[in-house]
Amino acid sequence: MENKKYGHFDDAHREYVITDPKTPWPWINYLGNEDFFSLISNTAGGYSFYKDAKFRRITRYRYNNVPMDNDGRYFYIKDGDTTWNPGWKPCRTPLDSYECRHGMNYTRISGQKNGVEASILFFVPLHKWCEIQKMTLRNQSNETKHLKVFSFQEWCLWNAATDMENFQRNFSTGEVEIENSTIYHKTEYRERRNHYAFYHVNQEIQGYDTDRETFMGLYSDKSAPDAVTEGHARNSFAHGWSPIASHYLEIELKPGESRDLVFILGYVENPQEQKFESKKVINKAKAHALIAEFDTAEKVDKAFEELNEYWDNLLSVFTVKSGDDKLDRMVNIWNQYQCMVTFCMSRSASFFESGIGRGMGFRDSNQDLVGFVHQIPQRARQRIIDIASTQFADGGCYHQYQPLSKRGNNDIGGGFNDDPCWLIFGTVAYIKETGDFSILNEMVPFDNKPGTEVKLFDHLKISMDHVINNLGPHGLPLIGRADWNDCLNLNCFSWDPNESFQTTENQGKGSKAESLMIAGLFVVTGKDYVELCRRLGKPHEADRMETAVKAMENAVKVHGWDGEWFLRAYDFYGEKIGSNENDEGKIFIESQGWCTMAGIGLKEGLCDKALDSVKERMECEHGIVLNNPAYTTYHVEMGEISSYPEGYKENAGIFCHNNPWVIIGETVDGRGDDAWNHYKKILPSYVEEKYQTLHKVEPYVNCQMVAGKDSARPGEGKNSWLTGTASWMWYTISEFILGIKPSYDGLLIDPCVPSTTKTYEVNRKFRGGEYHIMVNNPEGNQKGIKSIMVDGKTINGNIVPAEPGKHEVIVQM
Ligand code: BGC
Ligand code: NOJ
Repeated sequence: MENKKYGHFDDAHREYVITDPKTPWPWINYLGNEDFFSLISNTAGGYSFYKDAKFRRITRYRYNNVPMDNDGRYFYIKDGDTTWNPGWKPCRTPLDSYECRHGMNYTRISGQKNGVEASILFFVPLHKWCEIQKMTLRNQSNETKHLKVFSFQEWCLWNAATDMENFQRNFSTGEVEIENSTIYHKTEYRERRNHYAFYHVNQEIQGYDTDRETFMGLYSDKSAPDAVTEGHARNSFAHGWSPIASHYLEIELKPGESRDLVFILGYVENPQEQKFESKKVINKAKAHALIAEFDTAEKVDKAFEELNEYWDNLLSVFTVKSGDDKLDRMVNIWNQYQCMVTFCMSRSASFFESGIGRGMGFRDSNQDLVGFVHQIPQRARQRIIDIASTQFADGGCYHQYQPLSKRGNNDIGGGFNDDPCWLIFGTVAYIKETGDFSILNEMVPFDNKPGTEVKLFDHLKISMDHVINNLGPHGLPLIGRADWNDCLNLNCFSWDPNESFQTTENQGKGSKAESLMIAGLFVVTGKDYVELCRRLGKPHEADRMETAVKAMENAVKVHGWDGEWFLRAYDFYGEKIGSNENDEGKIFIESQGWCTMAGIGLKEGLCDKALDSVKERMECEHGIVLNNPAYTTYHVEMGEISSYPEGYKENAGIFCHNNPWVIIGETVDGRGDDAWNHYKKILPSYVEEKYQTLHKVEPYVNCQMVAGKDSARPGEGKNSWLTGTASWMWYTISEFILGIKPSYDGLLIDPCVPSTTKTYEVNRKFRGGEYHIMVNNPEGNQKGIKSIMVDGKTINGNIVPAEPGKHEVIVQM
């Protein structure tokens, strides 16, 4: 691919500006952050849903389509013989100018053609169930323009999965209503659904279409719908088949004149007894009310301002001034933004996750929490309780749950033995941020069954016990279905291509498969748990677990050390995985990350050795690969990991999610230069150039995987947006590199920086206090604090106490 640039950062506006619509992959953004969500690409592709991308899909999207990204909210502008779209697609008429600005939960797409500019602002107003599309049309020419504008969206029949498969039913169920300038989509409302959607424009229309084939023509494509080609709407009324919503507007603009049009895509729920206004006629009261809230450009502008203030506020909790713009823009803007998006979406809806596959992951959601708990602690609290409610009484957990029902997902079940530890990880992060120990007294059920409630603290306790009760022959944790690496399926043994590695029943009985990753995770979270118990005045429980943690450290040193690095696992038969004795997969990243984070064998130099081995064997230009060498054949005793061709995904891809584990390990070991080198290799702004051509995916966020050195195309990025990489990058930079760590008593200051860092400033809001923290490192050290002054007084130790008011903190390294 040619070496060109498709966009650039605009930090002052917190935007990424795309200047060429033909990006190497659709570069998308997310609108909404509570109930109503939309995905929007740089050409206005994408779709909307309410809460759950599977069960409440509002508009239709066809994944992996040809051409790519061909469904969205489109506006056709017909100016004489020329028809164009402000976002270039689907007509692809060459534009005189094009720009897409992706900002914090909004996107603005502007196109210009033959003296007309159309600029559309897309956003979801705070706490509202709708997407606003405010279009500003400007006549920049010297002649009066007679424009014909057609809006277009295709309704999805709610359940995104059946929408794509059950056509014998779907083609007969579609129903709409039209009232003035509003098109209502009410499929299945006559029976069990109590929700409908609508698409409105705030002015009189000259026509409409609601039947797709009538508007489009059965054999025409989206670049030239028949109605648009003919230049007028056909006023079609959908009965079954595929309902759409298209407004037709004739607009005259004098030279220099401009016009605002406000389109609203809304969603409404009605109580059962108030569903209808009269027989078969839906009750539109809520839709009318919602429309009235946004029926003028002024009202829309105000709501947009509120959204921006909301983000000002969220992003003011932690800001850095380091003198390095590339670092600052990721820390202050994009990394935090991506964390918020992954909180909202988990792994459900992106341009790589179809929204119908997975619900919320137990481990994923706990990890995501560390990325947003400082911004919206109340929602983190609720999230923890929702997650814990899917735990079983023995400490095991449903691996996933559905966001609408909050119920555990039976298709996949449980048995992933790392899952319980993550609950401790998430809960401790919440308490350290907020100081709110009361969450531990919340009564939380097992498997959502009323009557089974115990205190949240007891959920943490059984989480620890679940590991201890499931130890293998070496005293290391049994892996179960899998640990963090969902593809290291040591008890699966599948030869049937019709089985999913993820849902196949395990042959776990009699298995000796143990995980060093869970061992490290257990030590890290176990130490947190012990500290928590001491705080809570539970010395016996603290001692009991301290003993277990020590035993685990010992087991790792005795049975988990391979000589130059930590082993990865023992398989079903008790054979080593991730050992120098193996031909392939000699070394893995997960155990190097977790065991060094846990500081196991730090004094004896094991961490140094392990981290050096990572550099030597797994580091490459684009980051650290997951394992090395890659597996070149299928190993039935390992499962999905060996199903991937070399260098991709869990088979030696650069799985960005776990690079931060090694980086944190480096900081535990005090190696700030190494930590920084690893960090900047996967920091999007640092490798923005690469994103434009090689990585292909959005240059403003991390992607899950970059193809590794053993792949056919090293450096190619995939699976952008929804990845634990976001929260781990945040956790790493904020707490371990910049070293501002929430702790029970205050902010613990413990930076580990590259020796070139001489000074930086952080502003941190924390439990009602505002801290301006100035870190000085005149000698170019990598770690270690000489002194800390708070409001002019030197403190003992390195914890800045949590106190309301403004505080000046000066740190000498
Ligand atoms: C992917 C993993 C993912 C798992 C569960 C696998 O196919 O490779 O990254 O965790 O599916 O969705
Ligand atoms: C992505 C999944 O969401 C996560 O749960 C898993 O840990 C990683 N892939 C690694 O397999």
